[in-house]
Amino acid sequence: MKGFTSYALKNLKSTGSIARSSKFLARNLAKQIPSDAKTVIELGAGDGIITRELLKYMPQQAHLTAYEISEELLPLLQKIEHPQFTLKHSSALDIVQDFAIDSVDCLVSCLPLALFPLEMKHELLTHIRSVLKPNGLFLQYQYWLSDKALIKEYFPHLKMNWVPLNLPPSFVYTGVKDAEKET
Ligand SMILES: C[S@@+](CC[C@H](N)C(=O)[O-])C[C@H]1O[C@@H](n2cnc3c(N)ncnc32)[C@H](O)[C@@H]1O
Repeated sequence: MKGFTSYALKNLKSTGSIARSSKFLARNLAKQIPSDAKTVIELGAGDGIITRELLKYMPQQAHLTAYEISEELLPLLQKIEHPQFTLKHSSALDIVQDFAIDSVDCLVSCLPLALFPLEMKHELLTHIRSVLKPNGLFLQYQYWLSDKALIKEYFPHLKMNWVPLNLPPSFVYTGVKDAEKET
């Protein structure tokens, strides 16, 4: 396995990217993890560029579970040895089997949402909302705002920031699971 960039270029349909994320984007996401978080999930870990930053910034009591579907990228992720880390070689959709409803403090999605069929996007966002605790945090980055309206259906009070130092520059959505909205 050469590295994420050569993998990404050969597998654009599953990665949706031409390069690994920058440290700036990784840090932007990692710094948003709440200081009292205990359960953190990352979806679409790739080569672990964001995973490593999440582990660096998350609080000591937190545990990170990362999902990556690509078998080829696994050896890169398996190099991460950290007591607060679990790697799952399975689909992001499996979170509902692995985590109880209302049990996750923060979920960071690096998934190429724009490439997924609409039905899968709804399934995924439903699962994400369901495992998050009330007031739990959902973070997703995207290169253009194609899914903003859809994400707002699940996380109505959506905030956004922009990370120019990334290839391509990225928007970061930050949603909070509204305790009063039905799951
Ligand atoms: C845009 S890349 C992000 C990689 C890395 N986190 C980064 O930011 O550089 C998206 C990653 O999601 C993975 N992926 C795509 N569909 C997935 C799914 N259903 N479940 C888990 N991972 C998935 C891809 O294999 C790829 O590694």
